[in-house]
Amino acid sequence: MKLKEVKDVDVNNKRVFLRVDFNVSVKDGKIEDGFRIEKTLPTINYLLDNNAKLIIAGHLGRPKGKKDKSLSMKILADKLKEYLKKDVKFFPDCIGELVKKEVSSLSPGEVLMLENLRFYPGEEEDDDDFAKELASLAEVYINDAFSVSHRKHASVHKIAKYLPSYAGFLMQKEVETLHKVYFDPKKPLVLVMGGAKAPTKVKLVKRFLSIADHILLGGIVSNVILDAKGISIGKSKVSEEIKKCTNGLDLTSPKLHLPIDVVVANDIDNPKKADVVAVGSVDDNHIILDVGPETVKLFSDIVKNAKMVVWNGPLGYYEYEEFAKGTDDFAEALCKSKAYKIVGGGESIAALDKIGDLDKIDFVSTGGGAMLEFLAGEEMPGVEILKA
Ligand code: 3PG
Repeated sequence: MKLKEVKDVDVNNKRVFLRVDFNVSVKDGKIEDGFRIEKTLPTINYLLDNNAKLIIAGHLGRPKGKKDKSLSMKILADKLKEYLKKDVKFFPDCIGELVKKEVSSLSPGEVLMLENLRFYPGEEEDDDDFAKELASLAEVYINDAFSVSHRKHASVHKIAKYLPSYAGFLMQKEVETLHKVYFDPKKPLVLVMGGAKAPTKVKLVKRFLSIADHILLGGIVSNVILDAKGISIGKSKVSEEIKKCTNGLDLTSPKLHLPIDVVVANDIDNPKKADVVAVGSVDDNHIILDVGPETVKLFSDIVKNAKMVVWNGPLGYYEYEEFAKGTDDFAEALCKSKAYKIVGGGESIAALDKIGDLDKIDFVSTGGGAMLEFLAGEEMPGVEILKA
């Protein structure tokens, strides 16, 4: 998949609108993880080295079209300042005459960060006027926000109607790496899917059944498939709507590997009473909360012999420490594998970070939902507009 690249355009002395995804978790006024910011630095530095007048825009959280001080981008401008070791101006709005004035005073090599784009409903509505307003600030548009490019939002989609548009380095790397998983995989290829978002993950599983050698399933997505096979998942809930996603999935494929044992409890808030039972022996009062040790062993053996492993989503209820063991143990086994390893999704990354082995992963995607949608073959509005 060929994209128009940032190196294809002369940015010298030009106002460049750079869309980033700095949607990071902020707790008690502190940024918990700067991973997404760090990944965008090569593009930012390149633009500054090439004398762009840099306007950076992004979103934080889901303010639903309203101003919300707690979701201001100011904290990210301050953080970026630390990374760049140079001044990063901040403007408390993203459209309007005052922003235009501020932008027009930028010198080459200067950086201005705008306020949260999602403070305006026009952003998520992919509104034409809002996109035009944003575009009027700049002469060139660069998208380095792969992880939000599955959203049809004004700053990742409609803006390209008004400005020459190019992909940043992070965007290029994400697209190139994930494209290869489907079109040029190393074999044996193993896909590991856990967590929620079952409809997208099942769609992905269907697409990969002809390409992958093994598909390992945990978390809610495995509950949905166990349920579709008529195997009891106890009190673990699967809505009628979600059940529909397994229509057309070959449930008998030998490539599909479901848990063989699971950690269950009658009450999620009483984790001390959790127990390990074989799949098939889950009773009506049980909630499935993690994969068991036999499953971890099975999955670990499979990834050991793989040449490429793609993993997204925890194998258990990761928010609870008591149900994180399956995911953590699997993460450890994965790191020992010599396969080319690609990981995405907040909790899978957190598990690898916790065991201190994130650097053993060949490619860590900044996209959670975006990675899944890309692999599922969904059209991504923010990527489509960058195609060469
Ligand atoms: C993300 O954090 O995955 C992206 O920034 C997209 O955020 P959203 O799910 O709120 O659109």
